[in-house]
Amino acid sequence: MANKAAKSVFVCQGCGYKSPKWMGKCPDCGQWHSLVEEEEPAGAGEGRRREQWGADENPMPLSQVSETDHARLPTGINEFDRVLGGGLVAGSVVLIGGDPGIGKSTLMLQAMMSLSRKGADVLYVSGEESVRQIKLRSGRVGKASDRLFVVCETLYERIASMIEKHKPGVLVLDSIQTLYSSAIGSAPGSIAQVREVTFQITVMAKKTGLPTLVVGHVTKDGAIAGPRLLEHMVDTVLYFEGDQNHIFRILRAVKNRFGSTNEIGVFEMRESGLVQVENPSAVFLAERPKAAPGSVVTASMEGSRPILVEIQALASPTSFASPRRTVLGLDANRVALLAAVLEKRCGMPFGGQDLFMNVAGGVRLTEPAVDLAVVAAMAGSFLERPVPGDTLVLGEVGLTGEIRGVGHMENRLREAAKMGFSRCVGPEAAAKKIAVPGQIKLECARSVSHALEILF
Ligand code: TYD
Ligand code: MG
Repeated sequence: MANKAAKSVFVCQGCGYKSPKWMGKCPDCGQWHSLVEEEEPAGAGEGRRREQWGADENPMPLSQVSETDHARLPTGINEFDRVLGGGLVAGSVVLIGGDPGIGKSTLMLQAMMSLSRKGADVLYVSGEESVRQIKLRSGRVGKASDRLFVVCETLYERIASMIEKHKPGVLVLDSIQTLYSSAIGSAPGSIAQVREVTFQITVMAKKTGLPTLVVGHVTKDGAIAGPRLLEHMVDTVLYFEGDQNHIFRILRAVKNRFGSTNEIGVFEMRESGLVQVENPSAVFLAERPKAAPGSVVTASMEGSRPILVEIQALASPTSFASPRRTVLGLDANRVALLAAVLEKRCGMPFGGQDLFMNVAGGVRLTEPAVDLAVVAAMAGSFLERPVPGDTLVLGEVGLTGEIRGVGHMENRLREAAKMGFSRCVGPEAAAKKIAVPGQIKLECARSVSHALEILF
């Protein structure tokens, strides 16, 4: 009968929920057919964990902890370093997630090639590609140095002994789903394995001070495959996103113990690999139709940088009982709210209009500061009237149709002036306190209807 040492449990592959018996639906996250039988390792759990962490460190006064441990190691790829918060931190584990084919391996390889050229010893462990495939890719993206070591390996214990032997300065594991540990019987990629290997990696990184980059796949609904737990275990979580059909790729931090989570890095995927985009505004506005109805430019703060983006709207009479709302790059609820404000305060019957919204270039905007631009794009498309091509639109919109101030107004206006804009329609509150760049004429609007009057 049942062997006590190897008990089996059913683990949800979506959230990590454990159950002694099989179920069709996970009671925790509600996913169907996600419970898979896994072997619970003998002696798993608290005892072993505690042992691994070790009790060798005595508490010490915070004031005496040396800061030098946290020296940053810049990779030399500025857009990547900025998102990391200035470079790699010793002993940190960075998880990089993204859709298949988005360019995670390419980014890792380029960053590591750059690091190795600067004199760091790098170990790149790939569980997905053969060494020859990596070589082929590296030929396209740049010149390799003798300090970049590559190996194709998936057993974690062997990787650990490799690290002990070669003592690399930086480690890349591509990808976490292909790795497995012999301590656990489950298949590679299963929740138990992913969690176990990640745990071992974090312990190793903290002990040796080795900066470790881990690539992770993303599930259909956009989370890093494996439980959310994974995100709690590592120090930094970056998402590499973008449309496969667009050449732009955006690197975004969703968690960062050593830096801000607001920064983004913008890249372009070319024949010769990823190229940094130093001036994103210019790129995002490059193909803008000047003075077309429904196209409005606004400035969004991405971390410390203002970026100019084009918001597009298309409103057309609906043939359905309930009109369609298709929104890309913006919060759909926010758009519905703004459409309601326009309907109520300006008398535009959006209830009878299908509404399609898009942010050009595949950017995602979350700031309320772009509200007025969304409203202007919707109204422009509805009225078939263009917003002049030299006009920037800024401001948060409230439910009564009032326009509220936005932060970093000066930064945004400076970026707009740099890109050749000469006029800004914005909130009244802003005008008094800030120095408007000479080239820009700031026109203040009190309410949505006032703003539309100024614009059209
Ligand atoms: P890859 O880094 O393999 O993606 P991931 O590791 O996230 O799955 O990226 C592969 C894609 O990038 C592939 O569709 C081809 C494209 N690519 C280029 O366009 N130019 C290049 O120089 C390289 C190396 C890849
Ligand atoms: Mg890959």
